[in-house]
Amino acid sequence: MFIFIIRINMLSPFLKYTIFCALFIGSIRSWDPDAGLIKSYTKLHNVTVQASSGTHPENVIDSNDNTNWVSAHCLPYGYLNRNDVNIIFGACKTGACLSSGNSGNGLGVATDGNPYTAAHVQKNGSSAFLSVDLVNSQVLQIISVGGVFPSPTHLYVYEVTKFGSQKHLLKTFTSTDNYKNINIPGTNFTVNKLELVSDSGFTVKDMGAIGENGCTEHITVDLGHERSVGTIRTRHWAGSNAATKLVLKTSTNGHIWNMVADLDPNAVHAVTTRIQPADIRYITLEYKVHMVNHKKVYCFEVDAWDENGIWGPEISAKPQVNTFREILGVNGIWGWGTKSYSDKLGPNEGPLLYSEVASHARNYHNLVWDVTDPDLDPEYDAMAAGHGTQAMWWLNWDTEYRAWNAANLTVDISIQFTNKTVPESKWNTPEQSAFHYGQQVAKHFGSVQGNGLVQAVEVGNEPWDYNAAFYASVLKGMASGLKSMDNKLIVIPGTFQAEDKDHENTYIGTRVLPEVADNIDVINCHTYSFINDDAGIRKGTYPENKLSTFNNIRPITRWRDTNTPKKPIWVTEWGWDSDGVGEQCRGTECVSERAQAVYAVRGLLLLARSNIERATWYFYANTECDTLFCRSGLTSSHKNNFQKKAVFYTFQKFLQYVGNTYFLGIIQENDNGFVYALSDKPHACLENASVSDLLQHASHVIGWLPVDISNKNSRQTTLQLPAETQVSFAWRIAGSSNDRLFKTTDYQQSGNSLEITLKTEPLVLKFNHKTITSIVG
Ligand SMILES: *[C@@H]1O[C@H](CO)[C@@H](O)[C@H](O)[C@H]1NC(C)=O
Ligand SMILES: *[C@@H]1O[C@H](CO)[C@@H](O)[C@H](O)[C@H]1NC(C)=O
Ligand SMILES: *[C@@H]1O[C@H](CO)[C@@H](O)[C@H](O)[C@H]1NC(C)=O
Ligand SMILES: *[C@@H]1O[C@H](CO)[C@@H](O)[C@H](O)[C@H]1NC(C)=O
Ligand SMILES: *[C@@H]1O[C@H](CO)[C@@H](O)[C@H](O)[C@H]1NC(C)=O
Repeated sequence: MFIFIIRINMLSPFLKYTIFCALFIGSIRSWDPDAGLIKSYTKLHNVTVQASSGTHPENVIDSNDNTNWVSAHCLPYGYLNRNDVNIIFGACKTGACLSSGNSGNGLGVATDGNPYTAAHVQKNGSSAFLSVDLVNSQVLQIISVGGVFPSPTHLYVYEVTKFGSQKHLLKTFTSTDNYKNINIPGTNFTVNKLELVSDSGFTVKDMGAIGENGCTEHITVDLGHERSVGTIRTRHWAGSNAATKLVLKTSTNGHIWNMVADLDPNAVHAVTTRIQPADIRYITLEYKVHMVNHKKVYCFEVDAWDENGIWGPEISAKPQVNTFREILGVNGIWGWGTKSYSDKLGPNEGPLLYSEVASHARNYHNLVWDVTDPDLDPEYDAMAAGHGTQAMWWLNWDTEYRAWNAANLTVDISIQFTNKTVPESKWNTPEQSAFHYGQQVAKHFGSVQGNGLVQAVEVGNEPWDYNAAFYASVLKGMASGLKSMDNKLIVIPGTFQAEDKDHENTYIGTRVLPEVADNIDVINCHTYSFINDDAGIRKGTYPENKLSTFNNIRPITRWRDTNTPKKPIWVTEWGWDSDGVGEQCRGTECVSERAQAVYAVRGLLLLARSNIERATWYFYANTECDTLFCRSGLTSSHKNNFQKKAVFYTFQKFLQYVGNTYFLGIIQENDNGFVYALSDKPHACLENASVSDLLQHASHVIGWLPVDISNKNSRQTTLQLPAETQVSFAWRIAGSSNDRLFKTTDYQQSGNSLEITLKTEPLVLKFNHKTITSIVG
């Protein structure tokens, strides 16, 4: 690019113009639908998979969590021809066997893993015998014998004892056992020899034994090169009770292995494991198979990335241009859980209640409340005149949104429609109908031609059940319809993710296309904080967790940086589910009420630090249901009169103390603590400023440990303050309902040196800069 610009200046105006056009087209071509992805190492070139047995090892790198490798089964007899399981495989070929005599094929075939080849043991004197020495004495789990026994034939094992060898009879075979393969449970003592003895000659089709290591199966992914691996994702459910143990191992050379994790073979869902980052080439899952007939083990998918996993590197922080109060908003709904218009609601419910902690509100504006058919006109003029929308005779959005505005909430409407509520087949002309609807919304609610009650419009909330091309054409139509009537309206696509192309139904790359770039203003994202635990169960977690889905702001930011670099990102849903105020929380994702409050502040800080323009909490209140997202409220549900939860009080206090400040920069951000500088003025020019510059301009610092709420650790960190700077107040955000400002002993200032104690609960410190005041004064 730079080289082109130098050349352009040396060219004629005409050529300049042509090259500019070429560059312009070039820049459109640089659109990358996959710009958010961090490719798994197992999806690169030259990756191969080997398995100990079974079929379709390649399925573990096919980008499909639902296809799998399946091992062969060890029991009852599958192990016989496996020299990695059968500890006497080949013994009679290598001189470990002794017999009274034999004829025919030779003794070798007695332990060749093939029951269709037989060794005939002949009598010498009064008896016939075949003995097999074990190379390594050990406890046996299974012994298999198949043969033909004209007279009773005894199976002995020789136990190794302090006093020499002790012989035990395990089984006597008779002619009823002829031609069968028979498995005998093993020993619980150490054995060094097996022996078959009979009064007459006998035939051995095959003998085998499983030793103390049991049956192990493994699947190994060879990355083809050493890669820096810090994150391994496996969908490794082994089958029901098919494995008793599963270990994850890595290697650089395929010979020396490091055991990096114990996995739960019964985890049904995929599990992501963080390992000490290292250059490795081989990844192995080693299953200890349950010693039961016909058990096979599975593996469905193996992925690997560096230490940042699928999320990629952290976002580089910039000074915020929005205050915390401006960033924070709330998701609401018509009537806010009451059954009346918001203008009828008092100060302890509805918009007046929630505007205490929100500068904007987002509504799920159902398309089916406007039109019974997406090809029809919503008839907003008639609505304003009191005749309802085309779909709902009683509805007047103006009344509702006017009350929201009156509470100082700017309004973002997410036009909600899905394939379930408005099926694809119902749209006769998807793009044109969406265009027309968009025009009507903008004309009525926009500020240019309409009543100005709505500031932003989202084309869908989570429209994830539509075909990609179908949604893309609705987005194209509606966005251009909205813009054609009102260029001030903020137009936003539905929410999608940019990290995982294989979850196609939620993927941004096939839905937000270059053709809409000019008609959208914001990139939309929902950010919840979940991890899958060791059993693959989804759990709520703290927002800094390196594995948390809260990190999905990174891929969407990369996508934005490449494709729509000037457009802000709005996190239009985020939050945690918790119990509290008399309402239980039952999902596996639930966190405590205190965690919800503390994580809320930490989450808001992370979003502000990551250049997010808006963070709209989900949800204003709990709802009267019992599943995930039913307990995300800032308050209890209507049933319990919208009582404030700790998160409400915490946001309220947070906004009271630092709501008008801006995130300024990172003082420290590592496992020993996160410490951010805030300032009461925007300082866009302080990007990449030094810590001392940040502290010079900071009105506050806030610091915490990036750990789970249950973690009681604390760490000291020392800041070198500018001259004559004093702490004027301190507040530990404990996440309780009656969290008050208090003089805390959690900091100590001596001279310019300020030592602060970081815990899971953030500590806010306000500064007085005497020198700056006096210089300015
Ligand atoms: C894959 O392996 C082939 C043959 O070893 C080699 O020539 C090629 O460069 C490798 N490709 C990559 C992307 O590493
Ligand atoms: C049979 O037994 C005798 C005496 O125990 C022994 O000398 C001989 O070598 C044996 N024959 C075979 C074929 O093993
Ligand atoms: C070993 O096996 C014997 C006989 O089956 C049993 O009585 C004994 O409890 C076992 N010992 C151990 C340590 O499992
Ligand atoms: C809305 O904001 C204005 C201006 O800041 C203020 O005077 C008014 O009291 C606010 N209204 C509500 C309901 O908070
Ligand atoms: C949309 O819904 C219809 C049924 O109403 C269904 O046939 C179609 O497969 C759905 N589209 C997608 C992409 O799932």
